[in-house]
Amino acid sequence: MAKKKLILDFDPGLDDISASLMLFNNCDKVSVELLTVSGGNVDIKYSLNNALLLAEKFCPYQVEVAAGANSPLDGTERINAGDVHGETGIGSTLKIKKPKKKALTIAADEALFEKLNLSKQKLCILAIGPLTNVALLLRKHPEIRKKIGAIVCMGGAIDGEGNYTPYAEYNFLWDADAAKEVIESGVKFILCPIEIAHRTPITKRELSRFYTSDERGKLLKAMFENASDPNIRFGFAFHDSCAAAFVIKPSLFTCQKCNIEIVVNKKKKEHAQTFCHYNKKGKNYVIYPKNNGKLKKFILENTFKG
Ligand code: BDR
Ligand code: CA
Repeated sequence: MAKKKLILDFDPGLDDISASLMLFNNCDKVSVELLTVSGGNVDIKYSLNNALLLAEKFCPYQVEVAAGANSPLDGTERINAGDVHGETGIGSTLKIKKPKKKALTIAADEALFEKLNLSKQKLCILAIGPLTNVALLLRKHPEIRKKIGAIVCMGGAIDGEGNYTPYAEYNFLWDADAAKEVIESGVKFILCPIEIAHRTPITKRELSRFYTSDERGKLLKAMFENASDPNIRFGFAFHDSCAAAFVIKPSLFTCQKCNIEIVVNKKKKEHAQTFCHYNKKGKNYVIYPKNNGKLKKFILENTFKG
């Protein structure tokens, strides 16, 4: 079977790092053609550093990295998830290392444009951070939409509470304008909402068997041994890994047509609340796992193997 080609837009971040490891482990099925980075969970100086280290140390092939937005489209100050991901995005115990690899000299939106434009086939964008880089791409180069096969996005709380406010999920709250523009862009948009990972928590005990003595095992141990997610009682929610699992093995999920609506009004407590109106003629899609246990097993076996 031909490999799926995709661009990963992310803000690493504990679960972003886990999702990338899962994609790299599945290099026989998917090939990550470009990494584009934004601020999000942490400041971009850290998320970029983490992306470069991932590309250098864990990607089995060459992949370029480009840095993008560190604030939302409206230029307001970014929100921060350092309480969950640590100030540097790799937890609170590990010292950051300096990568040898350098980022591209062009910004993420231009790197996205070049990669898509030069590609002979349509590429999928797996977006597991704020949607600012993708929104900038579509604003500047609307014609590039025809080269995007689909945008698979981790974001939004549809069936349950948000994780940053009772209404809003973190990625969509970080830049609700960007989320709205991308959802309404006409590009096939497939949403992996937050409740999937909340219903598929992975416990510290389940993770601990992967704390091997090699570089990956040490990294995982440092990242997750003391990690806690205020929304999960006995474990950690691997949001971004759920979206990556869909890209690698879509048969784990159902995929329903719908229209996605996001509230954009900073004055309202419902800002960034997301609704999914199920409709066979809808322009968007939402996914849910067929079986949460099977999804969890897939994430564990595909992310944390040696
Ligand atoms: C999303 O926000 C970030 O904190 C995670 O990396 C994930 O992409 C979950 O709301
Ligand atoms: Ca993320």
